[in-house]
Amino acid sequence: MAVRVMTAYVAHELNHPLGTIINLANILARRLVGPVVRPKDISQHIKHIKAEAVRATSVIKNMRMLTEHMPTAYESLSLIEVCQDTIARMKPLAKSKQVNVRLEVRTTFVRVQGVKELLETALYNFIINSIAALDHANVTRRLVTIRILARGPGETTIQVLDNGIGVPDSILDKIFEPFVTTRTDGSGLGLAIAGDVIRLHHGRVCCHQRKSGTCMEMILPQQ
Ligand SMILES: Nc1ncnc2c1ncn2[C@@H]1O[C@H](COP(=O)(O)OP(=O)(O)OP(=O)(O)O)[C@@H](O)[C@H]1O
Ligand SMILES: [Mg+2]
Repeated sequence: MAVRVMTAYVAHELNHPLGTIINLANILARRLVGPVVRPKDISQHIKHIKAEAVRATSVIKNMRMLTEHMPTAYESLSLIEVCQDTIARMKPLAKSKQVNVRLEVRTTFVRVQGVKELLETALYNFIINSIAALDHANVTRRLVTIRILARGPGETTIQVLDNGIGVPDSILDKIFEPFVTTRTDGSGLGLAIAGDVIRLHHGRVCCHQRKSGTCMEMILPQQ
């Protein structure tokens, strides 16, 4: 079971940087045959491709931290940076899906002890689900809001709110279990990975249905 989950986690997480690299390479190919070639724009895309390739090389190491409980080197992190860097990575996808992603910071208690790449992985999985939930939503503005706020004593939370189709009642209580999915192209692993990442950071995850859409939450102990 452990090997099956580990293999599935690695395959799942490799798909994110690889998908972004393919997407950016396609954009570059179109730009290079366009009427005006802007070197600054091209080099920006190449920089982004390199960063995603580097990220792909650390997927195995990061997923082993989760499934084999390897010793983890925590560092002092700002959740604002975690959010900003993840949003920047997801910009091309959000743009192509006409989704507006915005960040709201409502607390000054934004520092935690953690592994930046892992927290970004958890957030990425929340945001990509919100973008997918907006695919078939009948809304005029597709909106994903990332909100950092103080929760209980000594806790800070990152909420990801969307106005998408919402989580079906039938899976609400098992949404963080592996292999639970309602999507034809889904493997049901994004939220299981996010849950494992947050538990490794001594936090917890939860999901609330909204009047229109979903609020996913990762709650972390403050530094
Ligand atoms: N923001 C959301 N809005 C609506 N439904 C959601 C949202 N987030 C998760 N879900 C539901 O929870 C299920 C499980 O999500 P999870 O990320 O674990 O897997 P997946 O997205 O189906 O596949 P994968 O992430 O492995 O590609 C989804 O199939 C979807 O039904
Ligand atoms: Mg998912």
